[in-house]
Amino acid sequence: MSLPIRIAPSILAADFAKLGQEVRDVTAAGADWIHLDVMDGHFVPNISFGPDVIASLRSYTQATFDCHLMISPADPYLEAFAKAGCDRITVHAEAGPHLHRSLQTIRHLGKKVGVTINPATPLSAVENVLDDVDLILIMSVNPGFGGQKFIPAMVDKIQQAKSLIGDRPIELEVDGGVTVETAPAIAAAGGNVFVAGSAIFKGGAADHYRKAIADLREAAEGGRVGSS
Ligand code: DX5
Ligand code: ZN
Repeated sequence: MSLPIRIAPSILAADFAKLGQEVRDVTAAGADWIHLDVMDGHFVPNISFGPDVIASLRSYTQATFDCHLMISPADPYLEAFAKAGCDRITVHAEAGPHLHRSLQTIRHLGKKVGVTINPATPLSAVENVLDDVDLILIMSVNPGFGGQKFIPAMVDKIQQAKSLIGDRPIELEVDGGVTVETAPAIAAAGGNVFVAGSAIFKGGAADHYRKAIADLREAAEGGRVGSS
């Protein structure tokens, strides 16, 4: 089964001095989800923002808050991110020893459950949690920074993830180096959620966001058509 193409701008590439406005603008420009990259300077070599910033953004949009936790440990903070207004919470399989426990905690908090793996982590890391997740995120760069190049070997991994998912209604999200150039191959491989930071926010002007999102959506839809 194919879930809809969804465009999820990552506000990591937005202007942090006016994040509320950025979230509002990108929603008005057609974003499906808002992707929130949380970094702790420990699991990844960068620091971004935490639950208080997310809570203060909540009133700026009705769009789904898609939270990508690049933090270790994650478990002690899951409740805070749920309370901050995240609708979906994704944890890294590499971030702790008890992945099931993290996923079940998110489920019990009433949020959609996601799991993600770094480029060097084999897909087998998520094989045993397929019944516990609503979303699998394939990292197509090493997490920590926006603006990196898509790792081409991840196209095969996306395809394998798609066949692992089979008929389950699991979203297949891809994050890192997603552009109009890489989106067709991602869609053809089975990815349906497209996270994009620099491809949407670079240029910086709100009137550019609508075109950037539309172009990315068109590139993704085109890749999907090409695959069938
Ligand atoms: C990387 C983050 C991504 C990042 C994507 O650590 O998880 O969401 O913001 O940025 P671009 O689209 O610029 O590769
Ligand atoms: Zn991300």
